[in-house]
Amino acid sequence: MMLQSRSEAETREIGRKLGEKLKSGDVVCLYGDLGSGKTIMVKGIASAFGIIERDITSASFTIIAEYDSVPPFYHIDLYRLTTGEVPELGLQEYMGSQGISVIEWAERAEGEIPDNSIRVSLNYKEEHSREIEIKGIRINSL
Ligand SMILES: Nc1ncnc2c1ncn2[C@@H]1O[C@H](COP(=O)(O)OP(=O)(O)OP(=O)(O)O)[C@@H](O)[C@H]1O
Ligand SMILES: [Mg+2]
Repeated sequence: MMLQSRSEAETREIGRKLGEKLKSGDVVCLYGDLGSGKTIMVKGIASAFGIIERDITSASFTIIAEYDSVPPFYHIDLYRLTTGEVPELGLQEYMGSQGISVIEWAERAEGEIPDNSIRVSLNYKEEHSREIEIKGIRINSL
């Protein structure tokens, strides 16, 4: 499904609605250029699990952030890694668990991503406008 977001708040809300549809063990892959809104989307998804938005941060320091929500929530940000470095992370341990895994720059782990993952592509349109394509799950529109 294809959605339009006109603000950061709308992208967060789309993320929350997506989060509400997720089940234990789901993997969500996020694709999109720098500044397209992937981390904002993670904040929205995480909010559905009771995680406070400001606790979700960018990958400057942390590649894998674990939150002990129910189910556990894993925010994985591969921005600083090359495809060759990804296998060392042991992502299967997260993606094969009962937790929810949400992966920014998921194309860097493409060989390891399960086929039944939910895929979200964010495209920059204008300063505050993004096109968001979601595959593998349906959410109610805003
Ligand atoms: N409709 C929108 N949806 C999401 N973000 C928006 C929107 N309009 C403006 N923005 C701004 O775009 C930026 C998105 O930043 P964000 O960190 O989420 O991008 P990112 O895709 O995670 O980038 P990176 O690849 O560097 O991690 C924020 O500054 C946000 O305020
Ligand atoms: Mg980001």
